[in-house]
Amino acid sequence: MQTHEIRKRFLDHFVNAGHTEVPSASVILDDPNLLFVNAGMVQFVPFFLGQRTPPYATATSVQKCIRTPDIDEVGITTRHNTFFQMAGNFSFGDYFKRRAIELAWTLLTNPVSEGGYGFDPERLWATVFYDDDEAVGLWQEVAGLPSERIQRRGMADNYWSMGIPGPCGPCSEIYYDRGPEYGIEGGPEANEDRYIEIWNLVFMQNERGEGTSKDDFEILGPLPRKNIDTGMGVERIACLLQNVDNVYETDLVRPVIDTVAAVAPRGYGQGSHTDDVRYRIIADHSRTAAIIIGDGVTPGNEGRGYVLRRLLRRIIRAAKLLGVDQPIMSELMTTVRDAMGPSYPELVTDFDRIHRIAVAEETAFNRTLVAGSRLFDEAAQSTKTAGKSVLSGTDAFTLHDTYGFPIDLTLEMAAEAGLSVDELGFRELMAEQRRRAKADAAARKHAHADLSAYRELVDSGPTEFTGFNELSSEAKILGIFVDGKRVPVVSHHARSGNEAPALDRVEIVLDRTPLYAESGGQIADIGTISGTGTGGGAKAAVTDVQKIAKTLFVHRVNVESGEFVEGDTVTAAVDAKWRHGATQGHSGTHMVHAALRQVLGPNAVQAGSLNRPGYLRFDFNWQGALSEQQRSDIELITNEAVEADYAVNTFHTQLEKAKSMGAMALFGEAYPEEVRVVEIGGPFSLELCGGTHVHNSAQIGPVTLLGESSVGSGVRRVEAYVGLDSFKHLAKERALLAGLASSLKVPSEEVPGRVATLVERLKVAEREVEKMRLATARAAAANAAAGAETVGRVRLVAQRMSAGMTANDLRSLVGDIRAGLGSEPAVIALIAEGDNGSVPYVVGTNTQAQDLGLRANDLVKALASAVDGRGGGKADLAQGSGKNPGGIETALAALRAEVARS
Ligand code: SER
Repeated sequence: MQTHEIRKRFLDHFVNAGHTEVPSASVILDDPNLLFVNAGMVQFVPFFLGQRTPPYATATSVQKCIRTPDIDEVGITTRHNTFFQMAGNFSFGDYFKRRAIELAWTLLTNPVSEGGYGFDPERLWATVFYDDDEAVGLWQEVAGLPSERIQRRGMADNYWSMGIPGPCGPCSEIYYDRGPEYGIEGGPEANEDRYIEIWNLVFMQNERGEGTSKDDFEILGPLPRKNIDTGMGVERIACLLQNVDNVYETDLVRPVIDTVAAVAPRGYGQGSHTDDVRYRIIADHSRTAAIIIGDGVTPGNEGRGYVLRRLLRRIIRAAKLLGVDQPIMSELMTTVRDAMGPSYPELVTDFDRIHRIAVAEETAFNRTLVAGSRLFDEAAQSTKTAGKSVLSGTDAFTLHDTYGFPIDLTLEMAAEAGLSVDELGFRELMAEQRRRAKADAAARKHAHADLSAYRELVDSGPTEFTGFNELSSEAKILGIFVDGKRVPVVSHHARSGNEAPALDRVEIVLDRTPLYAESGGQIADIGTISGTGTGGGAKAAVTDVQKIAKTLFVHRVNVESGEFVEGDTVTAAVDAKWRHGATQGHSGTHMVHAALRQVLGPNAVQAGSLNRPGYLRFDFNWQGALSEQQRSDIELITNEAVEADYAVNTFHTQLEKAKSMGAMALFGEAYPEEVRVVEIGGPFSLELCGGTHVHNSAQIGPVTLLGESSVGSGVRRVEAYVGLDSFKHLAKERALLAGLASSLKVPSEEVPGRVATLVERLKVAEREVEKMRLATARAAAANAAAGAETVGRVRLVAQRMSAGMTANDLRSLVGDIRAGLGSEPAVIALIAEGDNGSVPYVVGTNTQAQDLGLRANDLVKALASAVDGRGGGKADLAQGSGKNPGGIETALAALRAEVARS
C-alpha cells in the first residue's frame, strides 16, 4: 500500500468517526524551547492545557515532524527518520481510553477491502504504563489481545511528554512482530527491532514541569480535562505494508536512493553495509532538508539553521564517501519534490527557493571541503615530517569543528595517506564540546523557568493594547515584579534608601497599555507610568516593554518618585516624539521591502528586520551583492512611494484571505486565524503586521539607504535612515562635501573630477619616486661594487649602507652587486641602521666562493654576534637583524677576518 493511501485511510477512518481533519502545522512553531515540531499534538498544546477552547471536540491530522536527537542512528537501524509523518487522532475532553484503543485497533486490523490496513491481529502487541490495569483490561476486552502480548513498562517507555513543560500522561504503544528473522522473541521489552513500534496512544491527563530526563520530571497536577493524543508512524506502517526491510526503502524515500545510485560508482544493497548507511543518510536527510527549508529555515550556525546546515553537509559528505564527485543537491531536491509534492504542495510551489538554498549550501560547503583538504594535507605532512604515524586528535577535531569534516572522512583520508588518527583524543575534545553545549542549554532552560512567576497573569488573559488609537491610557496595575519576583509594592525609597537593596529590574504589568511591546522588528516604545488619585506623585520612566507568552505586556521601569501598589489606577503614556519616529521607521521598512521586491523579484524573501525611530534595517534571502543600480533603484522607488502620499490602511481579516490578496507574511511565523493587514498604497505594499504605522506615506519623510552588506550565507542586509535622521545624514554628507570643495578650492560639483586628477597625479608621482629609488639603488650597488676589496682570492664587498634601508633593499642590492662582480669568488655583506633601532644585514656569496668553503649562512653569524642579532639562510644568501647599531663596524671587521681565514 502506497504512503499516500496509508495517509488517506487514516484520515478517512477518523473523519468517519466524527473527527475534524486539521492540516499539518509548519514544523516551526513559535516556542523557543522547541526547535522543531516533533509530534502531531504540538499544535494542540493550548487546547490540552485549557488555555484555549478548541473549535472541535475531536480532531485528526497527519503532521510533518522533525526529530534530530537520534541523527547518528539514521541509516544504521531500520526505523529512524529525522523527518517523518505522524498520523494522529485527538480528543479534547471527549472520548478517552476505551474509544482510543477501539479506533486504533479497528483501523489496524480491518481488512484492506474494508478501508483498514489488514494487519494480522496475532502479530500485534501492546505495552502499557506499569500500573495501568484499566488499559490492560481494555486491550483484552476491546481488542481481544491475550495477556501474554501486553507488557507493562516504566516511566521512560510508557509515560509521554514533549520533553519540556507541558501536557503529559501515561501511554500505551502498539507493536508489530516482524518475525524471527529480525531477532529474538520476547515482545518489545526484549527487542525493538523485531517488535517495531507503530502507534502510541497517550492518555493525556497531567501537566509536567521541569525535569532532567524522560523519567525524571515533576508532575504539577491534572489537566482540566482528560484527553487523547495518538501518533502513528506513517513511514513505519509503509515499511510493513510494502514489505520492505526498512523505512528508507518505502515508496517516498527510495527514489532518492535510486537517484544517488544512478551516479555513484558503487550501488545500493551490494553487500557493503557502510555504503548502504550512506545511501540511507542521503535519502533521509534530503527529505528533511527540503521540508525545513520549505517552512522558512535557511542554513546558519545556530539553532534551526545549524540543524539544516548539518543535514545538508552530511548529505554532501555521504555522497563524497560513496565516490560521487559531481554536485548532486539539485537532483536530490528535484527527486524529493516529485515524491513528496502530492502530499506537500508547498514543496512544488516553493521549489525554486528550496532548490536555490540547498544548492548554495552545497557550493559553499564544497569550497570548505577544498580548504579543509588543504588543512588535512598540511597536518598529514607535518605529522610525517615529525616522524609520526598518528594524526593528532586536535587536528581531527579542528577538521570537524571548523571545516565540518566528519571523523569517518578524516579516518578515510588518513588511511589513504598511510596514517592513523588519535580517535580517543578526538572523542575527548568532542565530549568537551558537548559538555559546553549542554551547559548552554541548561542555562536557557533556567531562563524559561523564571517565567513561571508571570504564569498567573498570563493565564488571566492578554494585555489590551490601546496604542493604535491613543497615546495615553488609564490602566490598572495587575502585578509588580522586582528581579523576576512578584511584590505587592514598589517605591522610589527602596531604590535610594540605605537599608533597602538596589532594585535592578522593576517591571509593571497593566491591564491595558498604549506602549508598544517589541515585536515584528519594531522596538518597544518608551514613556511613563504615573500614579493618579491617592497614588498621585508616583512616577516611573518606562525603558522597555516586552511580551511574555505573546500576550502579556511587561513594562520595564525606573521608579523616579512615589510608590506603586498592585491594584492602583495609573496613567500610562507613550513618548509621542519617540512613537512618531517609530512609526516612520516601521512604515519605512514596509516601503523598502515593497521596493526591494519590485527590483529583485519574489525570491528576495524577508529574513528579519529591525526598526527604531530614525533607522531601519531589513534582511532578506539573496545570493550575492546588490549592484549599485539595484541599490539606487530601491531607494528611488521607496522615495517615490513616500512622495505619492499613499494612505495607510489597517484591517483584520482571515489568514487565508490575506494571503490570497498577496499580503506578505514572514516564513516560519505562526499566525493566528485572524490577522492584521497593513496596506500602503493599494497593491504597493501589503503585509501581515501588528506594528504601529504613519497615516500617510508622506509622513515617513525621506528614506536614505546607507548600504548593503552580507549577514551570513545567502542573507543580505539593507540599512536606511528615515525622516529627520535621513535629512541629518544627508546634511552631514553635504557638509563633508563642502569641506572637501573648500580644501580643494573648487565648486562642489567639480570635487569628483578634481579628486580623480589628484589620484592620477599621485600615481605618476609614485612611479617617479620608484624610478628614482631604483636609480639610487643601482648607483649604490655600483659604488659598492667599485669599493670591492681583494681579500686573499676573494673579492669582498663589506659595507655599511645608508640609514633607513630595509632588509629587502639590502637583499636586492646584494643580488645586483654579485651579478656585477664577475666570475671570481665573491662575498657581499651589507649592513645598515634600519628603523626603530634595528640593524638589518644580508650576506651573499657566489658559487666560486662557496667552493672555497665560504657559505653565507656561516658568514652571517660573524655579523650577527657583533650587533646582538640572529640570522640564517642558505649557502648563497643569508640575512638577519640585530639590535645594536653601535656594533656595525665591529661586525664588518669580524666578517673580513672570517673571509681572510678562507
Ligand atoms: N505525542 C505522542 C508521540 O509523539 C503521540 O502522538 O509519540
